[in-house]
Order: sequence, then C-alpha cells, then structure tokens
Amino acid sequence: MRGLRDDVYRRPLATALERLGVGPGWRCVDVGAGGGDVSVALGEVVGRQGRVYAVDSDPRARDEVARAAASHTQVVAITQAGEDLLLPELVDLAFCRFLLLHVFDPAAVLARMASAVRAGGYVVAQEPITSAGRIAGNPLSMPDARHPDVGALLPALARSAGLELIDAWAEAPASAGPGPVADYLSSLTGVDPGDDPVVLPPLVTVIARAGAAADAWRPLQQGASGGG
Ligand SMILES: C[S@@+](CC[C@H](N)C(=O)[O-])C[C@H]1O[C@@H](n2cnc3c(N)ncnc32)[C@H](O)[C@@H]1O
Repeated sequence: MRGLRDDVYRRPLATALERLGVGPGWRCVDVGAGGGDVSVALGEVVGRQGRVYAVDSDPRARDEVARAAASHTQVVAITQAGEDLLLPELVDLAFCRFLLLHVFDPAAVLARMASAVRAGGYVVAQEPITSAGRIAGNPLSMPDARHPDVGALLPALARSAGLELIDAWAEAPASAGPGPVADYLSSLTGVDPGDDPVVLPPLVTVIARAGAAADAWRPLQQGASGGG
C-alpha cells in the first residue's frame, strides 16, 4: 500500500518538490505522515543537514515512520494532531498529502501549518477530488472520508488561511488493465477493475507562501520546546 501510493502519485510530489527547489538543509514538516513515504522522500532530499518532522495523530504511525526512516536520522516522528501542530522550530516547508480529506476542519489544519512555517516559507498540500475519479466512466466515492472532494476547495482554503497562492494544479493517474493503477485501486476498494478504464482521484496540489499572516502566529511557535 505504501509503495503503491508512492508509485502512482509520485509524479505530483516530485513536481511540487522540484518547483520549490527543496534541497539540502531544508527544515520540513510532513503532517499526516502515515507510513512515512513523503517524510522519507523529503529526508533524502534535505540530507543530514536538514530536518523532517513526520507528524501524525495516530501513535502507530510513529513506529511505522521510525522503521521506514531507520537510516535517516534527520526524520523525527512525532505523535500530534495537525490541529495542535507545534514544533520545536519554524520550518521552511509544511507539507500534507491525503490528510485534509480526513480532518474535521481542513481550514484550521492549514492555518496551523501556516503557523509552523517561517515568514517566506512554503505550505504545500496535495488533496484529492475523489468524485472526479472514474471506474468504467462511473464516479468514485469514499464514504469514510469527511471531505472526499476537499481538493476542489484547496486553493481557496489556502488563501483563507492567510497564505499567498503561488501555484495550483491537478493531476490524475489513469490506466486500463493490469498495472500499478489497478493495483492501487484494488488495495483501496478491494475491487479489481479488470480491464475497465480507471482514472484515480485527481490530486490537487497547492503551493503557497507564508507571509505577514503567518507572523501573527509567531509567538505561539516561540513558546514551543523540546523535540518529538
Ligand atoms: C491516507 S493517510 C496519508 C499518509 C501520507 N500522507 C501519504 O500521502 O501517504 C492519512 C494519515 O493522516 C493521519 N491523520 C488523520 N487525521 C489527522 C489529524 N487530525 N492530524 C494528524 N494526522 C491525521 C492518519 O492517521 C493517517 O496516517
């Protein structure tokens, strides 16, 4: 599952990181890190001079990330809700993928991510429009998610969190017959699409910059202490 998601949705992640020029020494947080696919990818890019906080509200994720990032001491796993995000330092990049569809209030979590970033730093969110995905032309659904189509609102949510919108786009992996797209869909739904054409939920990427509005949260960050 980890590997599958990494395969089929790798392209938007790579595009976003390249677009930002993320490199050695960057400080990042991956909120809703799950098994740590993105945290480990970021850890490789920022190197040992950098730092990646892998934050997830589920304590089990901490162990999973620790295993996935065993050879990356720059990846620090923290059990914390995105709504309570508070790090020992301001970061250059606050990132989330497939998180906001599950949280109670996506705008509150985005605002909290904005508060974790230094002035001029970046917030990047990658979230799906589930109902725009298709199997044999029929829309997909995700009844367990609170906001399955949050991707469609993402640019506006970023602006209301006080962020400056730099770029936004949508990408959807698509295929027919056996392969990573069919495997990924089967792992999500338990249904093998066979030879039916599949368009996975488009992932909307928003790249936004924290500016003056993020400064308003600065005293909160300065009160933070200690590591994960
Ligand atoms: C679908 S997984 C995404 C994992 C990873 N971001 C990825 O793209 O592979 C969603 C993760 O968000 C976490 N999560 C859900 N609500 C959260 C919250 N309010 N704060 C932090 N993490 C949360 C879940 O525990 C889960 O690990």
